[in-house]
Amino acid sequence: MDWIKGEKKFILQTYTRQPVVIEKGEGCYVYDTEGRKYLDLVAGIATVSIGHSNRYLVERVREQLEKLIHISNLYYTIPQIELAEKLSQITGMDKFFFCNSGTEAVEAALKFARKATGKKKFVSFTGDFHGRTMGALSVTYKEKFRKPFMPLVEPVEFAEFNNIDDIDKKVDEETAAVIIEFIQGEAGVYPADAEFIKSILELREKYGFLLIADEVQTGFGRTGKWFAKDHYSVKPDIMTMAKAMGSGIPIGCCAVNEEVSEKIEAGDHGSTFGGNPVACTAALATIDVIERENLVENSARVGEYFTKRLREYFENVIGVGLMIGFDVSDAVEFVKKCLENGLLVNNTSDKRIRLVPPLIITEKEVDEAIEIMTK
Ligand SMILES: Cc1ncc(COP(=O)(O)O)c(C=O)c1O
Repeated sequence: MDWIKGEKKFILQTYTRQPVVIEKGEGCYVYDTEGRKYLDLVAGIATVSIGHSNRYLVERVREQLEKLIHISNLYYTIPQIELAEKLSQITGMDKFFFCNSGTEAVEAALKFARKATGKKKFVSFTGDFHGRTMGALSVTYKEKFRKPFMPLVEPVEFAEFNNIDDIDKKVDEETAAVIIEFIQGEAGVYPADAEFIKSILELREKYGFLLIADEVQTGFGRTGKWFAKDHYSVKPDIMTMAKAMGSGIPIGCCAVNEEVSEKIEAGDHGSTFGGNPVACTAALATIDVIERENLVENSARVGEYFTKRLREYFENVIGVGLMIGFDVSDAVEFVKKCLENGLLVNNTSDKRIRLVPPLIITEKEVDEAIEIMTK
């Protein structure tokens, strides 16, 4: 079968795909149906952090598949409770709601914020991306994504990212929550200034809104710390996670502090698959590997090396751990040329490349990538 023709015929055309059919992966490399090998600096969009088909994860998931695949939240299951306990240690948050994706984690966060505060208004930022479902889309900045689907959740205001005066004007007593990516991912890797976060915390004191940290892309070591919030020493009221959490097995999570959790009761939210034993086992195995192989430290160290090397050749290189953005004159062409030369990279605009490789990447693989990118 011609797979690409089949995709065009049978799959709803919501994606722009690269013209390769990827069949298998191992470590930092993937292989297409023609047997061509690619060094993968996309990692399923910041997801396959412990590398493709990690053997330990495969074994743990296989054991769980043989034991119990699914039972729903009508019953207690061990992996879900073990995962929540582990997350409480690494996030510092108090209680956890499990779902299946980043956008679902944001939906949960918005609902919990309204329930906990009794207020309606959300404030987000220029450049922020929080997902594609109606609630998450409402707090996503890009007009092109939002406009065809209006009316969305209201009221929502967007303050200018890193502009202290503007956030000061946009929040008030009616604000339920401010939602933020501490390091913006889909915008092209732009971190918040420490002073900016400090002033949001002061405004939180003044008005009593909740701070939702969207760590869907930045979580689990991506930025050289466990979470982006750790660069700012902030404890958010609500925090969202997904992507790298299960190394590619779909799982998401909305974490809350004690005060929010006290306002949430049975029936406020739910999910058939959320916290599924196989997905939770994948997350537990992922965290195990990150800890055992010191991948948070590797992300910081190799990320710094990668950023330094990129600065020799490219403009506006911004790197926080292994989340790196830089400018090129034609990003679409750059992605295409890299692909032709055995390298997967991805662009967030027509000028910006965003790299989010597996956290296991070595300096040798970085050199290999630089050689292809500078060709
Ligand atoms: C910060 C952030 N939040 C939410 C999402 C949505 O996640 P998902 O695609 O799993 O729904 C993304 C996806 O890119 C993201 O980067």
